[in-house]
Amino acid sequence: MIRKIFTMLFLSAGVLSASAQEVSLSKGWKFAVGDSAQWASPTFNDQGWQAANLNESWEQQGHPNYDGFGWYRTKVVIPSSLKNNSFLKDSLRLNLGSVDDNDEVYINGKLIGKYGGYGGTIKDGHYGARSYTIAVNNPAILWDKENVIAVRIFDTGGDGGIYSTGHGNVFNLTMADVMDHVTVNTGADFEYGENNSLNKSIKLVTTNKYLYSGKLAFKVVDPENGTVLYEKTNDANFTSGKPFTYSFSIARLAKRSYAITYTFTDTKSGKSIVKTETTPYVLTPYPSAKVKINGADVFGARPGNPFLYLIPASGKRPLTYKADGLPEGLKLDANTGVITGVVAQKGDYPVTFTVSNSLGAKTKKFTISIGDNIGLTPALGWNSWNAWGLSVNDEKVRVSARAMIDKLSQHGWAYINIDDGWEAENRAADGKIVTNSKFPDMKGLADYVHSLGLRIGIYSSPGPRTCGGFLGSWQHEDQDAQTYGDWGIDYLKYDWCAYSEIVPKPDLPGLKKPYQVMRGSLDKVHRDIMYSLCQYGWGDVWNWGGEIGGNSWRTTGDIEDTWQSMSGIGFRQGDAAPHARPGHFNDPDMLVVGKVGWGPSLHNTRLTYDEQYTHISLWSLLSSPLLIGCDMGHLDEFTLSLLTNDEVIAIDQDALGKGASQYVKKDDYQIWVKDLKDGSKAIGLFNTSDKYQTISLDKNDPAISGYTKFRDAWQQKYIITAGNALTAKVAPHGVLLVRVEK
Ligand code: GLA
Repeated sequence: MIRKIFTMLFLSAGVLSASAQEVSLSKGWKFAVGDSAQWASPTFNDQGWQAANLNESWEQQGHPNYDGFGWYRTKVVIPSSLKNNSFLKDSLRLNLGSVDDNDEVYINGKLIGKYGGYGGTIKDGHYGARSYTIAVNNPAILWDKENVIAVRIFDTGGDGGIYSTGHGNVFNLTMADVMDHVTVNTGADFEYGENNSLNKSIKLVTTNKYLYSGKLAFKVVDPENGTVLYEKTNDANFTSGKPFTYSFSIARLAKRSYAITYTFTDTKSGKSIVKTETTPYVLTPYPSAKVKINGADVFGARPGNPFLYLIPASGKRPLTYKADGLPEGLKLDANTGVITGVVAQKGDYPVTFTVSNSLGAKTKKFTISIGDNIGLTPALGWNSWNAWGLSVNDEKVRVSARAMIDKLSQHGWAYINIDDGWEAENRAADGKIVTNSKFPDMKGLADYVHSLGLRIGIYSSPGPRTCGGFLGSWQHEDQDAQTYGDWGIDYLKYDWCAYSEIVPKPDLPGLKKPYQVMRGSLDKVHRDIMYSLCQYGWGDVWNWGGEIGGNSWRTTGDIEDTWQSMSGIGFRQGDAAPHARPGHFNDPDMLVVGKVGWGPSLHNTRLTYDEQYTHISLWSLLSSPLLIGCDMGHLDEFTLSLLTNDEVIAIDQDALGKGASQYVKKDDYQIWVKDLKDGSKAIGLFNTSDKYQTISLDKNDPAISGYTKFRDAWQQKYIITAGNALTAKVAPHGVLLVRVEK
């Protein structure tokens, strides 16, 4: 796995616990790289092995760039008091922090768990937290004696070993508790019922044989004032294979989130499990049947290269499209709104689009800019990574393209980008890059995406391998760029990854070089290929990413679907923001709304609904590429409302291409201000605290002085204000996004 740039909070490990409930495993580990079956054995002499620091990968402990096998060993006495003092006496849990990328665990030479329970082989990467359950009567365990724990690791690429990250930082042995393996499963979507009701079913689930019998308390609170809106307690019984389902219906009268708490208490043991979530609320107005032409006001393309643009228009289908003033070489399909062709002459061509349906027609002025600069507004699209990780395949890409055309392209969404995981193990005999079996026909896939009027992206690394351990473009740059061109690729994300093996400690020219090499290769291809630099912000890339020909550059390490990660990244963009400009944008990483997962199994984003409003508002203020990172086949009503708000998207797509400035930064709130092309401004009032906050700008404040009209971008309506000050009560981790106009 790629090293995370922002070190996650490291909480508990490192303290030798004296409590009878746990035996610490945070000390005493040794490790060696390599592989031998002997190393599992309790009698193997590991005296010569290196002491392991569980805060660091093995790369950081003297094995730079090492991928492959390695072993960790430690010795521990497991006292029988552990089970004697426990309510449940069935199983022991071995918590092993986080493993990068996969593992087999032996106690006294006997295999007790592997691959985090995922199946497959040790060479399938399953980077993440590890916790194994072992029956107390497993003969591998020597109670009240010294036990040797040995862990065989296989690292597929990037950092490797056992170490702590936000994914798992507990290194200990505990007894499985009554509430271990009990889940309050809130994964189902909320349903929007009639009469403004919000309905949902949750489940109490366990894999334990124990019969849970007790009470489920359900409570809904308004977070602004603590008022309890609903409270109900039900009997609840469940056991392995027989979950308990609780269904409820509450009114959604106000446009705000409520906090729900589910508390199950088991009567016999007295133990409880608590889960909280918030309720969704949709601000985006219900889509109108009347025609509206959406998206940016400008599109850039290079002379002589294939041109593809779908006029984004919403309203009742069918629509009929017309374009006046198209430059020579372009033609419009009146039924689909797709413009194709090739323009030979450079120049800014003013065009008027007219779109009509049974209810009427609308026009919009638009500029087709034929020149050297492309990507004049930030890319709007989908990328496979945050949803599917390395499990992406042809089918998932097609489903996404179909969903984009059915639900999102009307609002300007246009790119379908395949991230890591499409490449074969080896190049063809002539050195050409080939796809793996998940992508049987890349050219066919690109043709399909283009046939819908959308554009397609791909991923590679300047290194010999990508972050997922697949083939990179090292020493094949020209050849790969040519192959992308032959396939019809429109977007390349180029990710540093194993280039660290080539240049471990790059200086500034060293950071630029691999990106300049690929820039040169792309320039030899007769296609408009958007170039997305991904090197996690190193060397303050925002200062030079545009100069070396990047259309965007990642400013951060990888995002996760937590408030800590998203807000940490978003609110740290103040330095980079002024460097955004048409054709060259900061990229604070892909969106984490909807169903995400970085692998085959997905979950609803862990961001609250207010946090999701903050995410999209802040990224739009920053003129960031908006790359959806969720399962497009299952877009729920809330997520769709987030991604189809034309006034919010318009702030992102504003032709001036500025990044917002961090105008006010307080402990509990922040205000970001973005200048827009028509002289108005977009302002985000962000509540970064976990309580409601009143956030204000005085009418004489330079940010708004002279501006008299305040339009709530999410609700798409003007706000009535007292005395022209801008004042709002903003929900915890939420935002008011306004457009201020003269
Ligand atoms: C890195 C990038 C991610 C993703 C993965 C793919 O971690 O930062 O966005 O592309 O590699 O392996």
